Amino acid sequence: MSKDALDRLRRRIEDLDGALLKLLNQRAEVSSEIGQLKGKDGLSIYDHSREELIFRYLAQHNEGPLNTSEVSRIFGEIISISRELQSNIRGDDSEPHIRSAADSDAGMLSGHTSVYGILGNPVAHSMSPLMHNAAFRFLGIDAIYLPFEVQELQGAVAGMKALGIKGASVTHPFKREISALIDKVDDTAERIGAVNTLVFGTEGVRGTNTDWIGAVRCLEALLPIKDHKFVVIGAGGAARAVVFGVTTKGGEAVVVNRSEKKGRALAEEFDCAFVSLSEIESARGDCLVNTTPIGMYPEENEMPVPKGVLGSFKAVADVIYNPIETMLLREAEAAGCMVASGFEMFLFQGTEQFRIWTGKEAPAELMKNLVLDRLKAQ
Ligand SMILES: NC(=O)c1ccc[n+]([C@@H]2O[C@H](COP(=O)([O-])OP(=O)(O)OC[C@H]3O[C@@H](n4cnc5c(N)ncnc54)[C@H](OP(=O)(O)O)[C@@H]3O)[C@@H](O)[C@H]2O)c1
Repeated sequence: MSKDALDRLRRRIEDLDGALLKLLNQRAEVSSEIGQLKGKDGLSIYDHSREELIFRYLAQHNEGPLNTSEVSRIFGEIISISRELQSNIRGDDSEPHIRSAADSDAGMLSGHTSVYGILGNPVAHSMSPLMHNAAFRFLGIDAIYLPFEVQELQGAVAGMKALGIKGASVTHPFKREISALIDKVDDTAERIGAVNTLVFGTEGVRGTNTDWIGAVRCLEALLPIKDHKFVVIGAGGAARAVVFGVTTKGGEAVVVNRSEKKGRALAEEFDCAFVSLSEIESARGDCLVNTTPIGMYPEENEMPVPKGVLGSFKAVADVIYNPIETMLLREAEAAGCMVASGFEMFLFQGTEQFRIWTGKEAPAELMKNLVLDRLKAQ
């Protein structure tokens, strides 16, 4: 009896495979026609914004049971192969980076593979390897991104230099300490006082900061920064990136912190007002931004401010991305505020790192779908 059922299901799978095969070949034909038209018009085969639209469309229309991450992985392969088809039609190798993901896998562990990584301790929880490796694979870039749990930072930097590593992310607790160990810290990272990105080149190791770009993109999704007032809770590394981003983009920042000395120092550095955390009720602005770790997993039932203050803000953003929706954001939504999760900040600091390292636009939608599903599954 169960054998009959199994056979029936297998026949159903064969029928579906046949239908899928036909559809995939039809898609390949259309894609080849597009390749010909692009060739005639002298257009590039890799069309970043078009591919972003495809992933967005898939995420919006996916009804399951496959999750968005699984759908994105399948379509990532389909799109990579489509690009390769278009490249073959053109008959030139002018866009070597658009080889298929399968080709890049073959090259991934070759003698030419570029190595990138993340320096932190701990790093096992980091979503950066998932995000960057997916992007390398999708664009057919012969590179790999690894987690490095660092015991001794100076030795780690020297070792990376000696091994010809191309680039690295820097995370907790090394974002400040790293500056003294590298050859150049750019003006932005100097001003923020933290480095989250290393670029290894012939002239040594350069440090920069992309957290502020992530913060700006996250806040701009809520409201324009220019001429708006942002009440920033916290005075650590994340706060410095947010305050730098807000003031650089023409907004006003107010620093709110538990420790008065640290908070005042940050406020003075960026010419902002300071309010003690115990007096948060008196802080007025358009958007409240939490940059403290309060509410982060596993202490998900905590909030950095009493919920009564939320209603006076149009928008509330959190830099925490685990959980994606913190208690602060849930309460803010209930109070009628627009909200943004730290996930957006994390995603965009990563896409900017990818651009700095490879010179190419990162497939943000693909990275987003993969990381969101991984976070939800945790
Ligand atoms: N989304 C992203 O891409 C992204 C990027 C960077 C960081 N982050 C997140 O941002 C958070 C902060 O990181 P960080 O590097 O800025 O840390 P940090 O440098 O240690 O600063 C933490 C700040 O939070 C305040 N704080 C901590 N615990 C508090 C408590 N119980 N009550 C009141 N204030 C408290 C501290 O106040 P005192 O000065 O009084 O000690 C300090 O100002 C972390 O959760 C991190 O994961 C997210």
